[in-house]
Amino acid sequence: MSKVVVMDHPLIQHKIGVIRKKETGTREFRDMISEIGVLITYEATKDLKLQDVEIETPICKTTVKELAGKKLAVIPILRAGLGMVEGVLAMIPSAKVGHIGLYRNEETLEPIEYYCKIPKDCDERDVFVVDPMLATGGSAIAAIQMLKNRGVKNMRFLCIIAAPEGVKKLQEAHPDVDIYIGALDDHLNENGYIVPGLGDAGDRIFGTK
Ligand code: PRP
Ligand code: URA
Repeated sequence: MSKVVVMDHPLIQHKIGVIRKKETGTREFRDMISEIGVLITYEATKDLKLQDVEIETPICKTTVKELAGKKLAVIPILRAGLGMVEGVLAMIPSAKVGHIGLYRNEETLEPIEYYCKIPKDCDERDVFVVDPMLATGGSAIAAIQMLKNRGVKNMRFLCIIAAPEGVKKLQEAHPDVDIYIGALDDHLNENGYIVPGLGDAGDRIFGTK
């Protein structure tokens, strides 16, 4: 079964508190999503492998650590996942970026696919799939399946707020994908919104409502 990591860092908790407030405007909301993206990436990369490398400082030769092994890619689920990309890239500037377009049918809550463009060598990369919200889990499950169908093998899923229902479904569907969560909320309401949540993440990032 996959690992589920819920962040307990005070800065993450504070910033999530700010974006939950209904009076937080588009600009502050967007900035906070990006900052939380930085912090979640920091926490979600704690297990990356390091290797020893010989270098020379201005003073002497020494051995330093550098990231070993696979290269990384970040793949946001459009639209709201876009808000986290800048934050991930601030931590991992060399990561390639792919995009997956999915939206939930508002009545059935089923994910509808409309776009997928990923770096060619994603099958050789560790891929971070990002979306601020994990609600029913339908979008994350479909996105990860789209990537598996294209040969991607190593993925982790990073989100800001998750509902227990979505975490359970995602774990069942993709037991090989670890899940990193900023805050684990209480439940989903009858419209498939996370409670207490923050409302519609895409609308709040882009100011579309
Ligand atoms: C939101 C969110 C997730 C999805 C989560 O996107 O960004 O992708 O809902 O819900 P789920 O876990 O029940 O699938 P939305 O469908 O509102 O699309 P948008 O980002 O284009 O607004
Ligand atoms: N998508 C959102 O943006 N918010 C929710 O609460 C659930 C799905």
